[in-house]
Amino acid sequence: MANIYVTRRIPEKGLKMLKEKFGKFEMNEEDRVLTREELLEKVKGRDAVLSLLTDTVDDEVLAAAGPQCKIFSNYAVGFNNFDLAAGTKHGIMMTNTPGVLTDTTADFAIALMFACARRTVEGDKFMREGKYKGWGPMLMLGKEITGKTLGIMGAGRIGGNIAVKMAKGFGMKVLYIDRSGKPELENEISAKKVDIETLCGESDYISINLNYTPETHHLINENLLGLMKKDAILVNTARGQIIDEKALVKHLKAVPTFQAGLDVFENEPAMEQGLTELDNVILAPHVGSATIETREKMAVIAAQNIIDALEGRTPEFVVNPEVLNK
Ligand code: GLV
Ligand code: GLV
Repeated sequence: MANIYVTRRIPEKGLKMLKEKFGKFEMNEEDRVLTREELLEKVKGRDAVLSLLTDTVDDEVLAAAGPQCKIFSNYAVGFNNFDLAAGTKHGIMMTNTPGVLTDTTADFAIALMFACARRTVEGDKFMREGKYKGWGPMLMLGKEITGKTLGIMGAGRIGGNIAVKMAKGFGMKVLYIDRSGKPELENEISAKKVDIETLCGESDYISINLNYTPETHHLINENLLGLMKKDAILVNTARGQIIDEKALVKHLKAVPTFQAGLDVFENEPAMEQGLTELDNVILAPHVGSATIETREKMAVIAAQNIIDALEGRTPEFVVNPEVLNK
């Protein structure tokens, strides 16, 4: 009988698949992230673990799981919480849930751009506080979106999806940086691959859609922020550690016309001191993929990855493929 552990409740559809296939599984029933000690204890002797992006799965955790363990299935597209080399060393497959959250996360990045540009959060607060005294020619002027330049940092599935939607829907000119050229984006929407300094200097809107790796740690630093237009809007729905958050707070204070929309933070759930006092930033609780439909699809994929691994098939979304040649 397979011994499966789920580190926190996910939508029922995925849990039902595990239950139907294997009869039972164990799950953290509390509505919170497991502590490090609990995680190390709970993974012991499991054949499969369904983990979250808030669980750090490193050499120690994988060793604690034991040699019988076949898979850690992450309920996320991002997998910077996984030590891939350690997974391979222990012969454990590591998987993610890409694809199903592409539109959803892209849509949220776009929502943040619009919310910043048209000051929707500020406007709502203004109304509730009873400050509205009638239409005004100079009241709460925002920034135009249609026809402006959008800089995409990381033109993968999500970044590419934002680029196409904004180019086709809002006539935006698209610049991008990526490790590889994206001929499909260049053909479809005339996107231009540029260097990072050009992207920062010429974009009115900048969206971060990179994976978080040692190379992208604090990629957005004081230097690059300084190159951005004074009235640019920077949106991050990827990972918080890609931005030097201290430098961002400093920049937002120094340049009140600059805006940021943040769904992710460097030390989640904490935020850099001073961030919540600023009006030129919109803050969101890491909800890029958080729709009912998408979270259900993610649960199905995360469960299917486990079912495939335990039934001797290669799951569709292995992120440490080196393990397959061991
Ligand atoms: C969310 O941040 C994810 O990686 O799925
Ligand atoms: C990132 O992994 C993406 O799906 O763009």
